[in-house]
Amino acid sequence: MTETNYAIQVSGLTKTYGGRTTTPILAVDHISFDVGVGETFGFLGPNGAGKTTTMGMLTTLLEPTDGTITVMGLDARRHPYAVKEQLGIVPEVSNCYDELSPWDNLMFTARLYGVPRAAREMRAAELLKAFRSL
Ligand SMILES: Nc1ncnc2c1ncn2[C@@H]1O[C@H](COP(=O)(O)OP(=O)(O)O)[C@@H](O)[C@H]1O
Ligand SMILES: [Mg+2]
Repeated sequence: MTETNYAIQVSGLTKTYGGRTTTPILAVDHISFDVGVGETFGFLGPNGAGKTTTMGMLTTLLEPTDGTITVMGLDARRHPYAVKEQLGIVPEVSNCYDELSPWDNLMFTARLYGVPRAAREMRAAELLKAFRSL
């Protein structure tokens, strides 16, 4: 991870859908913003403004038509896997597994991120205590 004061830097980010056989839809039109490390950043807009498309590009699931995205100093286009490792997403619909306990959800996710057993058990206990679930 590169040293940076910015968690996210977005410059000239643009996304066009379609175009070959249909009229292209300009979903995101050259947006630029920075989010500092530790900053809470609200990203609001009416339906169709391009929020979901922007999140898709920030999470490397959608390819930008133009512009650049940097996450913790890493270029998202050149280092999509390293960028994914820096991200945690809570979507509109919960992505917890209802059939697993809170403890097992944390163990499973921590294993996906390669957190060693002792560390994941310590962190999970801390988190569940903080959220009064233990
Ligand atoms: N997969 C897609 N194909 C074509 N057009 C899309 C697609 N996804 C979104 N759009 C269009 O892009 C624009 C932005 O949509 P979206 O990013 O979903 O906005 P928001 O999340 O802010 O409501 C809208 O005009 C929407 O109809
Ligand atoms: Mg949306």
